[in-house]
Amino acid sequence: MGAYGVEYRMNAPLTAAELAEVFRRSGMTRPVDDPARLQRMIDGADETVTAWDGGRLVGVARAVTDYAFCCCLSDLAVDPEYQGQGVGSRMVQLLRDKLGEEVSYVLLSAPGAVEFYPKIGFDRADKAFVIRRKR
Ligand SMILES: CC(C)(COP(=O)(O)OP(=O)(O)OC[C@H]1O[C@@H](n2cnc3c(N)ncnc32)[C@H](O)[C@@H]1OP(=O)(O)O)[C@@H](O)C(=O)NCCC(=O)NCCS
Repeated sequence: MGAYGVEYRMNAPLTAAELAEVFRRSGMTRPVDDPARLQRMIDGADETVTAWDGGRLVGVARAVTDYAFCCCLSDLAVDPEYQGQGVGSRMVQLLRDKLGEEVSYVLLSAPGAVEFYPKIGFDRADKAFVIRRKR
């Protein structure tokens, strides 16, 4: 299923304000009141998939990768009006199409999304470890 009229772009220009808005609307805990940090998040990502309805950002997925072995996925977020219409899974698929099968795709799920990732092909890892950010 595809959300009607939604277009997907790889590494399209994106502003901190647009990113903050989709984070806010999707309920993601992100530094939405710190545009400089959001800008660093945009600039530092290796791959950013965005979903657009006209000029409106309705979904985002960011990845940091070496293009050879590993890929850390972060910030998969879809505007609530567009959730459940295949936007999230399509963005992850586009990333997988680009990076291929040599890399592992690793992410930390938000509590509300733990049942989502198995539906789009992720295995639950039982040997994952994290040093959590302090702010
Ligand atoms: C989680 C999220 C990214 C999924 O994106 P989406 O566009 O709604 O997902 P899709 O429409 O591609 O869903 C694919 C499948 O997963 C299911 N699904 C979607 N969100 C789900 C969730 N939170 N829990 C369980 N299943 C979910 C869909 O019903 C669909 O199932 P189906 O194939 O049986 O119909 C999106 O709902 C979101 O932004 N949620 C709020 C923020 C968040 O938690 N982000 C994840 C951070 S790790």
